[in-house]
Amino acid sequence: MNRPKKNLYIKTYGCQMNVYDSEQIALILGRDYDLTDRPEEADLYLINTCSIRRKSEEKVLSLVGRLKGLKNRRPQMLLGVGGCVAQQEGERLLQRAPHLDLVFGAQGIYRLPHLLHQRLESGKAVVDTSFSADLPYISGQVKPGAPKKLVTIMQGCNNYCTYCVVPYVRGPERSRPAAEVINEVQDFLRQGGQEVTLLGQNVNSYGKGLADGLSFPGLLRRLAKLPGLVRLRFTTSHPRDLSDDLICCFAELPPLCDHIHLPVQAGSNHILARMHRGYTREEYLHKVNRLRQICPGISLTTDLIVGFPGETEADFADTLALMREVAFDAAFYFKYSPRPQTAAAALVDQIPEPVKAERLARLRILQEELSLASNQRLVGQFKEVLVEGLSKQQNQQLCGRLRSNQVVNFDGPQDLIGRMVWVRIEKANLHSLGGHRCQP
Ligand code: 5AD
Ligand code: SF4
Repeated sequence: MNRPKKNLYIKTYGCQMNVYDSEQIALILGRDYDLTDRPEEADLYLINTCSIRRKSEEKVLSLVGRLKGLKNRRPQMLLGVGGCVAQQEGERLLQRAPHLDLVFGAQGIYRLPHLLHQRLESGKAVVDTSFSADLPYISGQVKPGAPKKLVTIMQGCNNYCTYCVVPYVRGPERSRPAAEVINEVQDFLRQGGQEVTLLGQNVNSYGKGLADGLSFPGLLRRLAKLPGLVRLRFTTSHPRDLSDDLICCFAELPPLCDHIHLPVQAGSNHILARMHRGYTREEYLHKVNRLRQICPGISLTTDLIVGFPGETEADFADTLALMREVAFDAAFYFKYSPRPQTAAAALVDQIPEPVKAERLARLRILQEELSLASNQRLVGQFKEVLVEGLSKQQNQQLCGRLRSNQVVNFDGPQDLIGRMVWVRIEKANLHSLGGHRCQP
């Protein structure tokens, strides 16, 4: 006889890798739990966390604190914290929040059924922050019928950029066998999926240590041949490892979308060297030129950090100048945040908070000017849009993305969700476009 299922609520913070991990959690626990979007009904409440900046971590800790009330009202509810903060803090989290039942690292998600069992049997909180060499994965789809899917192809990072906590919380770089990735994509396409985004901290070093010898461009070429794959994306590519072979894929492979996220972090050679990024400003600009030569009009987005230790006004001016020179279509920008264990946290020439804030404000003004100009260049053009769902901003409107990744909101019936439609771009906002559905 089937037991009635319990309710699982997952709150996800952070990057797309965490979104993927949360989907995996829902599949792993799917035998006993159904996902709910109502936290107050949860029998199991899991928080999948991010520790990339202190602010991300603070958000998690404040939510855990607030959940004490819910836990008191629902004593049977189990509360767990997983992902990067859990990996970093381990047992310390239990000391700060004794009402937690589970603490599990990024790899612990595949042991969740066992950890839950252990928690119920022992009556004591359980902590699992061990790493394993393999990358397990559970097949299936959390949202059947969704037109797009994230697929993790590798985990961890060996780069040790001096500001970054990822190598410590995600462990060393490991790639998934190509056959397994291809199977996952094929399964999704068989169910009517159209768009796949390959995920990894540094996708361009995909394949190292695997027996099948397929490089990242090799994997893209194999995937691009799969019938039904209309759009293929990947993130993130490290500028140092962006090979000419990969750049050429943008001209060669029809499903590969004309967008690349290429985090530059800073425009000054002095700061790039201190960050251990492994490329100069000139090398970065050279790769951008090559990308634009191979794929004219390719959309370029980036990540930027201001106020890295030792950053002078002249260094910062170099970042602004590089942004103008590349004219990024969009960017994510952050104040440098010292992270535990990282080399830069120990540097003596930390930048005062008000200086960081002031530089971030100047950088934002410039990027907003560049983003708006980039979006305005699309106005009047006819573009193909994969309809993803209802718009978050404009209720009643549909929302989708161009191949070059910009978000478009437009009027249309809900049965278009999951379909490809043509839209005339009418309006440019800072972070999105407005349009009208039309025939090409
Ligand atoms: N402080 C600020 N930003 C950071 N990032 C990574 N580590 C830090 C840090 N310590 C940013 C980088 C990276 C993005 C995911 O987060 O720009 O590309
Ligand atoms: Fe962090 Fe650098 Fe690895 Fe990216 S490449 S995850 S910034 S250490």
